[in-house]
Amino acid sequence: MTTRLPSTGAPALDAAPATTCRSDEVVVIHRIFRRLFADAPRLVRDVEPGDTDRARFLAKHLHGITTLLHVHHRTEDEFFWDPMRDRAPACGLHVALMIRQHQAVSDRLDAVDVLIDEWATHANAAAAARLAAELDEVDRLLVEHLADEERDAFPVLDAVLSDEEWDDIHRHARRHKPPLPVFLLLGLMIDSVPEAERDEWVATQLPAPIRVAYRVIGRRQYERALVRLFPDRAAAAFA
Ligand SMILES: [Fe+2]
Repeated sequence: MTTRLPSTGAPALDAAPATTCRSDEVVVIHRIFRRLFADAPRLVRDVEPGDTDRARFLAKHLHGITTLLHVHHRTEDEFFWDPMRDRAPACGLHVALMIRQHQAVSDRLDAVDVLIDEWATHANAAAAARLAAELDEVDRLLVEHLADEERDAFPVLDAVLSDEEWDDIHRHARRHKPPLPVFLLLGLMIDSVPEAERDEWVATQLPAPIRVAYRVIGRRQYERALVRLFPDRAAAAFA
């Protein structure tokens, strides 16, 4: 995988074509969504009926992941589809599919947000079952959408968007305050990179102050956050 994050201070790859593989940066984010939404239904199902403390803690996390995905898709909607349709008119059907899939996911996320609040109040079994089933459906739609997007849209976007436009997208995305703890997101991002590439990815894609902060306090916060989310899993399972 070739990744170049524009905001990291990593040296520019002068020999590389101006528009190659910038979508790899988004694929890293997609991996986080795959993991967060794959885990979500089981988190709900594992809560003992009546354990409102645990339900309220997870409600905050679940609202965080729905918000994160809404923001991600709104950014893609704002920056991807008009240029793709204008500059690659033959791809109009793929653009239409992406927009339909985003809307379908968004509708389900809205339903999830309502069900989270219904469940968190009393943590009863029926509300948990409804929420977990809806989260299953989001996961199913998301897995399908991300695969379609990475296969049908990203190669086109790599070809039609300039480096300046990709930089602009990242600047826009960074303006949003993350709805989840920042070191949880950073840890998930780092762990989503294949192990053989991870050290190089961290060295080349993260600015030095972030690398240091993660090493000094971030990794520990990330591991603690995972243990709190998944208390029944051994810490080694997250490494
Ligand atoms: Fe998308």
